[in-house]
Amino acid sequence: MAQKNTLFNYFTKSPAQSKVQSGVGVVSPSEAKDKIVQKSSAGTPLSARKKVSKKLTPETDSKKITRTAAPVAERNKLYEGEEFGVYDIVWSKLDGYPWWPSLVCEHPKQKIHVKGNDIHVQFFDDPPTRAWIHKKCMERYVDGVKMLAPTKDKDKWRAACIQADSALKLSNLERSKLIVDYPDDSASDIELEDEETEDLDTGNQGVAQEDASIPQKRRRILVLDSEDSEDEYKPKKEDLDEQSESASSGIDSDEVSGPESIEEPEEGTPRKANKRKRTSQSRPSKKSKTADQNSTPLNAVSTETKAKLALFPSDENSAVKMNGFEGFSSPSQMVKDGTKAKLALFSSKENTEAKQTEAGSTEAWPHLKLDFLKPNKIRDAKRRTPADPDYDPKTLYVPEEFKRNLTPALRQWWEMKSQHFDCILFFKVGKFYELFHMDAVTGVTELGLQYMRGDNAHSGFPEIAYGRFASSLIEKGYKVARIEQTETPEMMGERCKGMGKVTKFDKVVKREICQITAKGTRVFSVIDGDASSAENSYLFAVTEKSAGDSVSYGICFIDTSIGVFHLGQFVDDRHCSRLRTLVAHHPPVQVLYEKRALSEKTLQLLNSSLASVLKESLAPETEFWSAHKTLTTLAEGGYFSSESSGVNWPEGLKKFLNEADTLGLTAHDNYELAVRALGACTWYLKESFLDQQLLSMGRFEIYQPHDLVENARPVLTVVSKASFSKHMKLDLCCTPFGKRLLRHWLCSPLCDVDGIAARQEAITWLLGNTSLMAEAQEMLSQLPDLERLLSKVHTEGNALRSQTHPDSRAIFFEDHIYSKRRILEFISTLAGFKSAEKIASLIQGELATSSSKLLVQCTSNKQQNPAGKFPDLAGALHFFETAFDHEQAKEAGRINPSKGIDPEYDSVMEELQGLKQELDEYLNSQRKYFGCKVTYCGSDKKRFQLEVPDSFTKKAGKDYELQGQRKGFKKYWTSETKELLSRQIAAEDQQKTVLKDLNRRIFARFSSYYEIWNTAVQCLSVLDVMMSLAEYVRSEGGEMCVPEFVMPPEEMKPFLKITDGRHPCVSSVDGFIPNDTAIGCGEDAASLVLVTGPNMGGKSTLMRQVGLLVVMAHMGCHVPAASCHLSPVDRIFTRLGANDDIMAGESTFYVELSETAAVLHHATKHSLVLVDELGRGTSTHDGTAIAAAVVQELGNLGCRTLFSTHYHTLVEDFRHSEYVTLGHMACMVENENEEDPSEETVTFLYKFASGACPKSYGFNAARLAGIPSDIIRTGYNKAAQLEKDGDQRKLFQQLFGKKQNSSDITSLIERVRSVL
Ligand SMILES: Nc1ncnc2c1ncn2[C@@H]1O[C@H](COP(=O)(O)OP(=O)(O)OP(=O)(O)O)[C@@H](O)[C@H]1O
Ligand SMILES: [Mg+2]
Repeated sequence: MAQKNTLFNYFTKSPAQSKVQSGVGVVSPSEAKDKIVQKSSAGTPLSARKKVSKKLTPETDSKKITRTAAPVAERNKLYEGEEFGVYDIVWSKLDGYPWWPSLVCEHPKQKIHVKGNDIHVQFFDDPPTRAWIHKKCMERYVDGVKMLAPTKDKDKWRAACIQADSALKLSNLERSKLIVDYPDDSASDIELEDEETEDLDTGNQGVAQEDASIPQKRRRILVLDSEDSEDEYKPKKEDLDEQSESASSGIDSDEVSGPESIEEPEEGTPRKANKRKRTSQSRPSKKSKTADQNSTPLNAVSTETKAKLALFPSDENSAVKMNGFEGFSSPSQMVKDGTKAKLALFSSKENTEAKQTEAGSTEAWPHLKLDFLKPNKIRDAKRRTPADPDYDPKTLYVPEEFKRNLTPALRQWWEMKSQHFDCILFFKVGKFYELFHMDAVTGVTELGLQYMRGDNAHSGFPEIAYGRFASSLIEKGYKVARIEQTETPEMMGERCKGMGKVTKFDKVVKREICQITAKGTRVFSVIDGDASSAENSYLFAVTEKSAGDSVSYGICFIDTSIGVFHLGQFVDDRHCSRLRTLVAHHPPVQVLYEKRALSEKTLQLLNSSLASVLKESLAPETEFWSAHKTLTTLAEGGYFSSESSGVNWPEGLKKFLNEADTLGLTAHDNYELAVRALGACTWYLKESFLDQQLLSMGRFEIYQPHDLVENARPVLTVVSKASFSKHMKLDLCCTPFGKRLLRHWLCSPLCDVDGIAARQEAITWLLGNTSLMAEAQEMLSQLPDLERLLSKVHTEGNALRSQTHPDSRAIFFEDHIYSKRRILEFISTLAGFKSAEKIASLIQGELATSSSKLLVQCTSNKQQNPAGKFPDLAGALHFFETAFDHEQAKEAGRINPSKGIDPEYDSVMEELQGLKQELDEYLNSQRKYFGCKVTYCGSDKKRFQLEVPDSFTKKAGKDYELQGQRKGFKKYWTSETKELLSRQIAAEDQQKTVLKDLNRRIFARFSSYYEIWNTAVQCLSVLDVMMSLAEYVRSEGGEMCVPEFVMPPEEMKPFLKITDGRHPCVSSVDGFIPNDTAIGCGEDAASLVLVTGPNMGGKSTLMRQVGLLVVMAHMGCHVPAASCHLSPVDRIFTRLGANDDIMAGESTFYVELSETAAVLHHATKHSLVLVDELGRGTSTHDGTAIAAAVVQELGNLGCRTLFSTHYHTLVEDFRHSEYVTLGHMACMVENENEEDPSEETVTFLYKFASGACPKSYGFNAARLAGIPSDIIRTGYNKAAQLEKDGDQRKLFQQLFGKKQNSSDITSLIERVRSVL
């Protein structure tokens, strides 16, 4: 759950800082209005001003103290053990927050500072806030004796202590000036206005005059509520029409919980919801609080917001302008006034009356006092304590005796909360989603909602805003449960009638959870709104089994917005390399793992690599199912079965089943863990009410670790950041599905030379047809996310879901809007595929037989070219185009199928047509019989009465039942008309039923062509990625080349030769210096290049550049170089940069070494190894020794390696090795100051040259980094000394280590002299 990190946020009921006014005359229009009123009623401007501020001035305060002393004392007698007096300085601690210096003060409205065991305090903070604190959580503040500083907000805490220290020295009178007179916490803006006007009415001139001599207390103006923040407030026309989204139904928790809650279900009906009242207890949101602290009133209004507001001149805005205060008004005030006006419409008399009683409400919400929520008493639904290993934090024990006293609706709420304690409940009440208790607090702090009146924390918003608010919470890491009413009051009445004994808990409309959404279970339905990002968001389940040294993982991951389940099982090494690669390539947003099944190491990996990802441990067997339970549930759940054929296991899932078991209820021996992981996902999706729609798509794919894929040995890279492609400027895709494929290609480049060549060919062809490409890109960019839309249409078309999912029973207030959205999405899907077809044929039309194979594949269909894979969509598209009138459907939100499309619809229409004919014929026969004009009259269930003129009624025999008459006419029913009427009504009912399900049937029909739609999307994704790569080549200013892969014969060494290579993340115009890199070229060339050079000379840059160019070459992309030749690389290993991982308990040196160990274990001679310094984190001797040993080993292995180092002894050691060549980043060294050698300057040439660099010129880097020159000089002298010592030692060894001849000895002695 999100952390609250400012003191302001600590206090959930912190005051609404709305009407506080500064002494500098900055006022909001509403305040200004108030002032005018005050002025006219109170007579003098001065008195008017004083009245507004009378509670603030010290003298009034002192008066007030004396005036109120007696009653306060009397009241306080009621509370025993009072130890703290008004203006005492204390430490106080609010549950879950640090001890904070505070000042005891009276509650501004209740005029008491003690209530039961709670004392009212104002926290020293900026801005100050107030709360009721339990006496036990308070201590007297003594100067110099400090509590332990909190880890968070340390600075604020210190500032508060300083304030408290200085307050200690003040008298009570002076301390009274520190009390900021915010309006009462529980008072709304409207109340305040009322209150102030009241003050004026009762006026107290005497006090006012006394006040005149006292400097007026400076007040603050604070920006209010998120409703006002520019992010939140975008007054589009719809918003204005819909009224404020952040307003709630106005149903109060009291109403829900009141003794007359039988009213509640009726209130809950959509029809009556409008009648509800709203209140406007503005409470500052998190955002506004930050603004409060950082902004002055004027700069709090960004110019951008002003501009935005100006674009939408609403009534509120114009009101502001009329008052001439626009220069001073914050958007908050503008909106607030507008909102107030709107809210006033909802506010009723009882509401205002209720406000008075609110004054008596406590500052701590009642739910905070509930015993079963207290940290030391909390239990899960099965009454296990948190200490119990099986404790389930997803549930909460709510005692029956507590629930017994609740109203039926609130009991429903608590029952749901008890089962879903980890979710924020969006609880539908009529037209609104309401939040109660702790959820309401979250709603106010995280979403900027407003509290409703009443004792309980309670907020809400209209149904239509669900998507926006839910998505905001989900993105912040919350889980949201959407609870719908699945009964109307009428249905409830019927239900109760049918029951023998009806209790009060039966008399409430039924509510059901319809959706639980977290980051990993988003589906973006019409209720949820659209996705903001194209990236995949995976829900990932993992379990583990170890056998001896080896460990096996079972994994399953799914992007719920697309619906493909990826299942896999693999053995991993001790570094968990495969699991690491998997989570880097398919980054999960939510992880499910089996409780107690994961080893310490795996848990550490999850905590470090996926530190910010939501993780949930599932109980073995009941949540993380066994393989058998998984398969039984899948078989019995009706996901893959049709009535006729029984269970029809999807192709993709079959390979995970044991062939010996014909029922398919046993997992394949090699995939038991994988099926278990699928079980965990299924359980979780079932809990989230998504199982039916996702499983029934039947899309299961096997996941194999990249190094195990047969026939192709792909390059294994660790690409942990999604931004990788962005830095490389490769992502110029026009569609979301193209973007997802590009990322996939980046993570798994090809190793198959033919595949690479096909991509290169396609890019080259596209580069030759740029205008065609531009046209296709333009069309592609208009496409919606067809891949996600396919999944949505499938969901809407699923028959079983439409019967069993609670959403099918839910009563939506805005159903017509959702229906329209569904139709619009469907029509845009159809239009998308229509233009997909056009795009394909656009390219296909230009392709000659000799052109790119890949482009032929993804744009031609089988008829056009036997190699073509693009499906023939024409038939299916034609069907849906003519199946119904698109324009009419868009308008009506309903599909009226053309004839011949839907047999059920056709038959009911035929029936109605037939009936019409029979009715006409019967009427004709009656006209003949009576011999006059006879017509049908009546409506609804009284239809088809025969209206006969009086003068002809003689012929109406006893078969004619008189139903009524009007002047000159009589109305009859006959047995024929009655029979026709009942048939007509039955047919109309049937028509309604058919129509209701008709949209679904059309969607289901569309989904039945799933394969062709999906293939079309896959083809378009490839085309989009190819065009993106081509566009990259075009946009990259410098020279680009097509890499040439050479398959070396067995005896030949792998090689890599790049000329004038550039870093793909740096633009060529940035003055980047291209470099040549050659490894393993020529007959005896060594495979390892030892790279030296000055600090900041470009070594790391060169190594990264080589790695990226190789990845790009294997993706089939052109690379930024003059030429690039290489033999295929099977894996790239990197040991770059210095990292530590405290979460995983890994030090810098450990990380270095474990990465190196992975290289040594897995590298083959076809690998590319990039080691950017090794052994830095330890002593020079150990470091050099380890580096030398690794160089030796890699040299022997013969894999292409770039190894950079600053250990110059290493260079000496390998200078003559046949496996190693030396290379360095060139530089020029100059020193104009001959006296001070530390002043030498190094000019980097950034040119990679052969040979070694003698020194690292570290002092140059030190100077550039700003190390003071005297320190550099000292260091330089020390280095010179160390160098000298080293030389001496070497000479000494030479002198005495070997036998020397006399001339050698003489020359050595000479050298010794020179260095001494
Ligand atoms: N080929 C180049 N052309 C232009 N500038 C370059 C080039 N290579 C590197 N640079 C610049 O030099 C800076 C330092 O490069 P780099 O980090 O690769 O140095 P280094 O040799 O690894 O240094 P150290 O030994 O301190 O790690 C880079 O950030 C970049 O700005
Ligand atoms: Mg470096």
